[in-house]
Amino acid sequence: MTPTKVWLSSPHMGGEELNYVHEAFDTNWVAPLGPNVDAFEKAIEKELGNEVCVAALSSGTAAIHLGLELLGVGPGDEVICQSFTFSASANPILYLGANPVFVDSEKDTWNMSPELLREAIEDRIKNHRKPKAIIAVHLYGMPYKIEEIRSIADAYEIPILEDSAEALGSSFRGISCGTFGDIGILSFNGNKIITTSGGGALVTKNKVLRDKAIFLATQARDEAPHYQHSHVGYNYRMSNVLAGIGRGQMNVLKERVSARRRNYDFYLNSLASLKDISFLPEPKDFFSNRWLSCILTTCYDMRETLRMALLDQNIESRPLWKPLHLQPVFKDSKHFMDGTSERLFEKGLCLPSGSNLSQEELDRVVETIKNVLS
Ligand SMILES: Cc1ncc(COP(=O)(O)O)c(C=O)c1O
Repeated sequence: MTPTKVWLSSPHMGGEELNYVHEAFDTNWVAPLGPNVDAFEKAIEKELGNEVCVAALSSGTAAIHLGLELLGVGPGDEVICQSFTFSASANPILYLGANPVFVDSEKDTWNMSPELLREAIEDRIKNHRKPKAIIAVHLYGMPYKIEEIRSIADAYEIPILEDSAEALGSSFRGISCGTFGDIGILSFNGNKIITTSGGGALVTKNKVLRDKAIFLATQARDEAPHYQHSHVGYNYRMSNVLAGIGRGQMNVLKERVSARRRNYDFYLNSLASLKDISFLPEPKDFFSNRWLSCILTTCYDMRETLRMALLDQNIESRPLWKPLHLQPVFKDSKHFMDGTSERLFEKGLCLPSGSNLSQEELDRVVETIKNVLS
């Protein structure tokens, strides 16, 4: 008999979500926008602190698209982007007719290398193509090197779009991820630490930018009694029904972060003695929500042997993100690499990490890995 499926990261409702969804139905706020959207935005603003304002949107990808447009990215511009990330970090660069320039990762956080970022900026400036924005990502919930990236961005006066899709609940020196960029974004996709089924948010300290984001996200309607448009708009706002799910999920965010961190600690304590497996520790002052627990093996073959052994036990695992400079869709893009992200992709595996995993499921994962490696 096939053992029951263990998922990589599945939605985990807290119990109050349906109350807010019912409220939307009972008051007939099924149309887009309404009290759940307002309350969900307020809840995120309170959680993030740091005087940010938030616009709830239909996805994290939509938030990146609007964010880049608000930072002035347009056709022919260049935008620097971390290569080691999901394609959604960079796709909106192409939506805007701009060109990505990919930068490799460093070993302490697996995120954008400050040295290579500087090299890329200097090179592009030398070629009279100063980048319009930098997309830095807190991958798997681990904050990027906030201070180093910020000081380089400021030195060259290039704004940061902070991709915090995977990092709600993470922080650096107690300050929440999502609040470090000129514009930050969050994702509430089904596999994220909390979910609205599908959804995202744009985060900024600049209220004018937030209002502009909402204007663009609601078809860029000018003020007039009729439909008047002097700008291309989008239909990117979050629905009031889905925001109800988000309100319920915000009530349990802290528990979700604790549960994911417990998963990581369990894997670490159970597997760290195996000489062929290593983990990514939190540098001092860094707090990761441990969205996904990742391990590094010693080579591609071992990673694949482990992945297949887990699959055989009906356990879902996933190789670490394939760097974007290796993706066919971005094959012609400029890139500044030192091999770090390629090695991570070759050797790394994401283990089941949901906040709703049972101890029995976690034990199954560990036993399967130990059986292969001993
Ligand atoms: C790093 C990263 N950026 C952007 C996104 C896009 O978010 P969404 O799926 O909400 O569009 C995701 C997740 O899907 C992601 O993991």
